[in-house]
Amino acid sequence: MGISPESLAAMIPPDFTLGVATAAFQIEGAPAEDGRGPSGWDAFAAEPGRIVNGDTADVACDHYHRMVDDVGLIEALGVDSYRFSLSWPRIQPDGRGAANPAGIGFYDRLLDELLERGISPMCTLYHWDTPLPLEGAGGWLNRETAYRLADFAEIAASAFGDRVHRWVTVNEPTTVALNGYGLGIHAPGHPGLFDAVPAAHHLVLAHGLSLQALRGANVAGEIGITNVYSPVVAAREGFINARLVELFDVLHNGMFSDPVLLGRYPDVNPLLMPFLHYLTDVSGEDLAIMSQPLDFYGLNYYFPTRIAPGPGPSTGPDAVPEGLPDHKLEDTADLPFHITGWAQYERTGFGWPVAPDYLAVALTEMARRYPGLPPVFITEGGASFQDVVVRDALTGEPSIADVQRINYLADHLASAIGATSRGGPAEAIDLRGYYVWTLMDNFEWAAGYSQRFGLVYVDFETQQRIPKSSYRWLQDVVSLRAEDL
Ligand code: NOJ
Repeated sequence: MGISPESLAAMIPPDFTLGVATAAFQIEGAPAEDGRGPSGWDAFAAEPGRIVNGDTADVACDHYHRMVDDVGLIEALGVDSYRFSLSWPRIQPDGRGAANPAGIGFYDRLLDELLERGISPMCTLYHWDTPLPLEGAGGWLNRETAYRLADFAEIAASAFGDRVHRWVTVNEPTTVALNGYGLGIHAPGHPGLFDAVPAAHHLVLAHGLSLQALRGANVAGEIGITNVYSPVVAAREGFINARLVELFDVLHNGMFSDPVLLGRYPDVNPLLMPFLHYLTDVSGEDLAIMSQPLDFYGLNYYFPTRIAPGPGPSTGPDAVPEGLPDHKLEDTADLPFHITGWAQYERTGFGWPVAPDYLAVALTEMARRYPGLPPVFITEGGASFQDVVVRDALTGEPSIADVQRINYLADHLASAIGATSRGGPAEAIDLRGYYVWTLMDNFEWAAGYSQRFGLVYVDFETQQRIPKSSYRWLQDVVSLRAEDL
């Protein structure tokens, strides 16, 4: 596989946004500098056994001190836009009360730097780094946290509302709810499977309240949410398998996108109600807040999910390879299903199937489920691989030939653009852009530094940045596209 840069560039519509994405906690480091408060993720990473190799994000990419150079890397890449997140505890150390001017100052400089270099800023308000005092008060199990995020949105609006082109309220509430509060493999490490449901509700409510706050403050930019979407298929046929698919699809997809796009929670088979009864008690006022019109919808797509009944792990040729730190559903004995492998697909460093055809499926399902969907940005897509640094025998110049990542990105972009173009199965979707996850290798949550997703390699000992072949490839695509225009 692997479409050529020329053919890909020719497919990309003229006003399509190409971008790269990061998140504050994953790159910034400097956890106690200039008044930043601790976050739930700092505390979680400090607990023994939580993160692969005991890694922490204390230094990460040291981006807090290297921001100007990192923006230089984005400029040299030539992409149109940069998606970053605000560190909530850097700006509001306790998660409530007055803003920390030094925290505001950092993002002021970042925004100015981006705009000076012609890079359009997309800013995520909440990418998982809840201030620790709020986590201590119950985090997303506590409805109050949603109101605190809306207060933070007001601060962000008044500080940056004149310069941010697009706002993402909440990033992947699915992952926070399921991994953080359901399985307990992300901060705050709260295992309680169906506690994920109230956490999910409060996260999506926080989206609605923050959107209200941003609109109320008359920000100049557009506003959306980012949800991750994974098409779900059954490993085997039959009634039980179909119900499990439905359950996983609600827990992973519908519970987060239906209230936003349809103003209600999904209808499910009555057999599944014992798992989801919480959702039937939700008030109409909450649903109205959650479903206010969006300027755009952010979709993250990484891989489809294939499930089978019973607790895992599965064995045989279909089994998920070992060492999947971010994907431990199969370890959870009390789940009625587990995730199984896909014999026919190549796998990423995480063991995720490389399935660009399922990005087209995801878009097609979205189009079918949500008529009238606002314009869509794929706000993340990318893959981790075990990148190898090779040094030139004569010059010592390092290089990383990440051909698998180039193929991943090329095939996913082509799949998304093909599916949404005229005559494609999801042509009702107005697809506006694709953001590569991620600019540079960084702290990959529970996997620490063991999974590299970057276009730029980071040597975490020296903080040297080494552009990979995928960076050069994207540079080519961008310049070939410009020639086509
Ligand atoms: C989605 C998350 O938003 C991002 O923070 C994470 O690094 C990627 N998935 C890859 O796992």
